[in-house]
Amino acid sequence: MHIGCPKEIKPQEFRVGLTPNAAREAVAHGHTVTMEAGAGVGAGFTDADYADAGAQMVGTAAEVFAAADMIVKVKEPQAIERKMLREGQILFTYLHLAPDPEQTHDLIASGATCIAYETVTDDRGGLPLLAPMSEVAGRLAPQVGAWTLQKANGGRGVLMGGVPGVGPAKVVVIGGGVVGTHAAKIAAGMGSDVTVLDRSLPRLRYLDDVFGGQFKTSYASAGNTIELVREADLVVGAVLIPGAAAPKLISRAQLSEMKPGAALVDVAIDQGGCFETSKATTHQDPIYDVDGIMHYCVANMPGAVARTSTIALGNATMPFMLALADKGWRQACEDDPHLLNGLNVHAGKLTYFAVGKALGIDVLSPQLALKA
Ligand SMILES: NC(=O)c1ccc[n+]([C@@H]2O[C@H](COP(=O)([O-])OP(=O)(O)OC[C@H]3O[C@@H](n4cnc5c(N)ncnc54)[C@H](O)[C@@H]3O)[C@@H](O)[C@H]2O)c1
Repeated sequence: MHIGCPKEIKPQEFRVGLTPNAAREAVAHGHTVTMEAGAGVGAGFTDADYADAGAQMVGTAAEVFAAADMIVKVKEPQAIERKMLREGQILFTYLHLAPDPEQTHDLIASGATCIAYETVTDDRGGLPLLAPMSEVAGRLAPQVGAWTLQKANGGRGVLMGGVPGVGPAKVVVIGGGVVGTHAAKIAAGMGSDVTVLDRSLPRLRYLDDVFGGQFKTSYASAGNTIELVREADLVVGAVLIPGAAAPKLISRAQLSEMKPGAALVDVAIDQGGCFETSKATTHQDPIYDVDGIMHYCVANMPGAVARTSTIALGNATMPFMLALADKGWRQACEDDPHLLNGLNVHAGKLTYFAVGKALGIDVLSPQLALKA
């Protein structure tokens, strides 16, 4: 198969769909890989790295789209990229179609077969192509929280780990899923005093079994939450209710009960945020102050560490990318129902029920699409 990877063009996107290692594996499987020149630069990969891996380099995205049977990307295709897709071509990338009718209609019109990273599943009920970005955002949260707590940034001037004779920062993580667990591990590793709140008792049991001693757990009743938040130097918001906006767990009025200069890092901002006063910010201007409490609410946190994020995403996508290339999309999806769950659009039809419901578009079942 001819696999193509253009440079990402969405503003502030520095990741790339194929790492040189992924390109090397595809070439070893007998495939041709075409990269747009400069595609990997934002993630620290040079054109020479890709050439060494056996990829061919071309000057423009148009050449990549024209040559490739399958396009591998990171972000949803932008309007100018959607125009370059053609019937029969495979697109493998994040799509997030439900809130994006324009993109959905363009992809349907393109006739391409579009497989979305975010809806590919695994045996444990997880989302294996979303998890790496949650791991990155979770591990980044205490790092940006520590920075936000510094005096010059408006914070309380508290050091995460304290020093001998001075106690550590108190960190409260609300939501003990992928983001929350990674945030708690790093915060504990920095020497802070960490408590993780969740509403799922099985999850709290798991965290206590695996991490007991490194951090504490608490049931996320409203009473427990506010009691811990009052004492906290740093609060990380990491809740998710699948398919719904994040619940608001700290109100504006409750900010006045917090310590002046405490920091809120709202990782759930991409689902609307779990603090009433959260509003999305960018890496250029990440923090703001409401009533003396510092807020960090960057919606695409993994972009701050584009190299780590690219490699982590590439590790997760590579087996699926190789299956699609080795077998063709039809056989690969027939063999792997989890990959079939990624099928969102095929040959002029929407094939993902939740998107159809959100946008009021008729859906062809993915099983029927396999036979179409
Ligand atoms: N900002 C970013 O760059 C970025 C990056 C990755 C993920 N995210 C977001 O981070 C959030 C968490 O993602 P995840 O992968 O960890 O999800 P997850 O499903 O693994 O974990 C969510 C946890 O929240 C818990 N929860 C739900 N409601 C709760 C409540 N009211 N109180 C306490 N806990 C509650 C659930 O029981 C679950 O354990 C999501 O909103 C996700 O979209 C943001």
